[in-house]
Amino acid sequence: MKGIILAGGSGTRLYPLTKSTSKQLLAIYDKPMVYYPLSVLMLAQIREILVISTPDSLPALRNLLSDGSHLGLDITYAEQTEPRGIADALLIGADHIDGGPSALILGDNLYHGAGFSRILRASRERLDGCVLFGYPVSDPERYGIGETDDRGNLVSIEEKPLRPRSDNAITGLYFYDSDAVEIARGLAPSARGELEITDVNRHYLKQGRASMFRLGRGFTWLDAGTHDSMLAAGQYVQVIEQRQGVRVACLEEIALRLGYIDADACHRLGEGMKNSEYGRYLMQIAQSLG
Ligand code: G1P
Repeated sequence: MKGIILAGGSGTRLYPLTKSTSKQLLAIYDKPMVYYPLSVLMLAQIREILVISTPDSLPALRNLLSDGSHLGLDITYAEQTEPRGIADALLIGADHIDGGPSALILGDNLYHGAGFSRILRASRERLDGCVLFGYPVSDPERYGIGETDDRGNLVSIEEKPLRPRSDNAITGLYFYDSDAVEIARGLAPSARGELEITDVNRHYLKQGRASMFRLGRGFTWLDAGTHDSMLAAGQYVQVIEQRQGVRVACLEEIALRLGYIDADACHRLGEGMKNSEYGRYLMQIAQSLG
């Protein structure tokens, strides 16, 4: 399965913060925002990852993540010249996906909770059509919404409905089988001129091949699209990290635990930034797991 991170968009909702930098490079507490979705793909054991962003932002993202080999990954990059919608990522990524299954994640989504790796791997294994990840929210009119019946089967999907039929938001992580690119190719742009990911998901739903994993109330899903939600996400990470002494979305630690890099390599990565607590954490993890 190939991974795609969509880190595009002009980020105008965050102006002036994003006037001269990419939203996905802004800080969520101690690390850049893009680390969080990248950590999710890593936990799903996806190693070939395409990062899509604007021509202005790509050089900085490339500077940060390079070719991914220091994490045991293969990271490549592609441009999205205009904000043409989330489903456009499947078209830009068609060569990368190369006729196989894919996982698409939005560059500003943060997932955290016990057992998430297991959920991701199980969802990969039982993939037939698409797997969506639902989460209860208090403001469903802001999201794609999935309505389920008594047995938990998806019955409707709507994008930002004025009168939501449920509070179950469809989060920004989508697992697709090999049909997704063809489905995206057949889409017409929506009223706002974009290729909507909700229309891809609806296509699978019509075929009876869309399933939803509901992330429960004990799980955390945050998006960082506004000043307040970005600050809230940073505070969440700060609380968890300070309380538990572990780091959320620490890419080097995940790579070490998955055996993609060894303890020496992890230690060296930490030494390279030993003036920061993040760097010292890497050295400590390398010692305790080495
Ligand atoms: C997008 C999707 C929406 C989804 C949300 C998750 O909305 O269109 O279906 O629920 O991401 O973050 P956007 O944030 O681009 O408005």
